[in-house]
Amino acid sequence: MNKAGLNLAIFASGNGSNFAAIVKAVKQKKIKVNSVILVCDKPEALVVKRAQKAKIQVILINRQDFAGRDDFEEAIIQRLKNYKIDLIALAGFMRILSASFVRRYRNRIMNIHPSLLPDFKGAHAIRDAFDQKAAFTGVTVHFIDEEVDNGPIILQQKIKISKKDTLTSLEKRIHTVEHKLYPEAIKLFIRAKQKHRKLTL
Ligand code: GRF
Repeated sequence: MNKAGLNLAIFASGNGSNFAAIVKAVKQKKIKVNSVILVCDKPEALVVKRAQKAKIQVILINRQDFAGRDDFEEAIIQRLKNYKIDLIALAGFMRILSASFVRRYRNRIMNIHPSLLPDFKGAHAIRDAFDQKAAFTGVTVHFIDEEVDNGPIILQQKIKISKKDTLTSLEKRIHTVEHKLYPEAIKLFIRAKQKHRKLTL
């Protein structure tokens, strides 16, 4: 990371509302980011259109073009080398990254998950909390480790599930919190890096 800020790669596969929230925070200068790229594994994903509209560079690495995960990840690693990436933010990236990928970028890959981890891991966290009539759920931003939906927690926000909630209303409330929490977590990361830089100079 240099004085101009952090070089950020956002990995996403689908809708991209978290991608859009982070990009908005960057454009509004709420977070000190020097460059942003999108890494996407699905050419038809809405997030690609969002990135094009926001004039963010898209790196499309279609999973279908690779026989196995190792080749796919190697292609990502090679492309990332050109961008001196300081932080990878997973935002609805629907691929499980290998242990060796995680180790390569240890403590530099964040993920956002729509529950209060370690509760409700997995791809249907909002629905699972709703179906189980949990009193609370929430949002977690964490560094990833070799286990799915696991690793050091950076920020969490609790959300009450009310009796009036439908699955749709709960999803909406969770996404609103996500869009605030993810930029905040990135801000904390930047602050920690700047502090570290001051200490080591
Ligand atoms: C979010 O709910 C996030 O927590 C989860 O995947 C969803 C992505 O949504 N990991 P979007 O593509 O950012 O709209």
